[in-house]
Amino acid sequence: MTEAVRTGVPGDRARHPRTPDADPAVLVVDGLVVDHRNRSTGEVFRAVDHVSLRIGAGESVAVVGESGSGKTTLAMAATGLGTRGAGSIRLLGHSLSSIGRAQLRRLRPEVQVVFQDPHGSLDPRQSVRSGLRELRTLQPQRTSWIRDADLLDRVRLAPQILDRYPHQLSGGQAQRVCIARALLMRPRLIVADEPTSGLDVSVQADVLALLKEIRTSTGAALLMISHDLAVVRSVCDTVHVMYRGRVVESGRCETVFVTPENDYTRELLAAMPGARWRSRR
Ligand SMILES: Nc1ncnc2c1ncn2[C@@H]1O[C@H](COP(=O)(O)OP(=O)(O)O)[C@@H](O)[C@H]1O
Ligand SMILES: [Mg+2]
Repeated sequence: MTEAVRTGVPGDRARHPRTPDADPAVLVVDGLVVDHRNRSTGEVFRAVDHVSLRIGAGESVAVVGESGSGKTTLAMAATGLGTRGAGSIRLLGHSLSSIGRAQLRRLRPEVQVVFQDPHGSLDPRQSVRSGLRELRTLQPQRTSWIRDADLLDRVRLAPQILDRYPHQLSGGQAQRVCIARALLMRPRLIVADEPTSGLDVSVQADVLALLKEIRTSTGAALLMISHDLAVVRSVCDTVHVMYRGRVVESGRCETVFVTPENDYTRELLAAMPGARWRSRR
């Protein structure tokens, strides 16, 4: 693939003017509260408890916390994809509480999610090529900027992968396909929810490096959800530490990880994979 095609992404973006917006942030969450109701018992569980965060255009923001701390609930509610919550959310300049369905549908391609389980995200009955074709049919203009083989090249996959079915892909290959599908939509925000947790350790670093490279080359913002500090450290500038639904500490990664102020943060850091970072510095 030629360099001209690679660098064609920003130019392509210029041909698709974005929504005019006073605040250029891609996501502003203010006082978000999300409750899950247990269907059988009717019990209500507060998964996200008054969380606020902001992701500027092109920024890379992490949410870390132990399993069950509310990270996925936060990410899904904040992007209008999961259980709705109370509080204010501005996604790509639109208030999610007042946006109409048609408008929300138009925003969808601009927010792409990469999940933990790549095989679970792909349709087992579709080859990679037919999966991409389906996306192209849904969004013909948005997706016309790159050919299938070049798209795969962007995620370091050989063109032969196009004819494979998900069960014929390794975890790392399947996650690259998921990233390629996200990239095809030229998103302004990529949400990566534990994108390497389901992968062999040997390919985790490569997939992270790829996410980082794509963020840089496309200018997309990244919301990285992880329980692994090594992951966050390698990709993100800012981090929010979640504990039991609340953000207990926020700041630049190098500040929060090296000199955590909150007791919970210290405990979480000590218990998390990747916490060795502190002693290395
Ligand atoms: N659909 C749901 N119904 C009921 N409880 C849920 C639902 N989804 C998540 N939860 C609960 O909300 C809490 C936060 O979950 P989640 O956001 O998935 O956390 P994390 O991503 O940090 O592991 C957990 O206690 C989980 O059991
Ligand atoms: Mg989760």
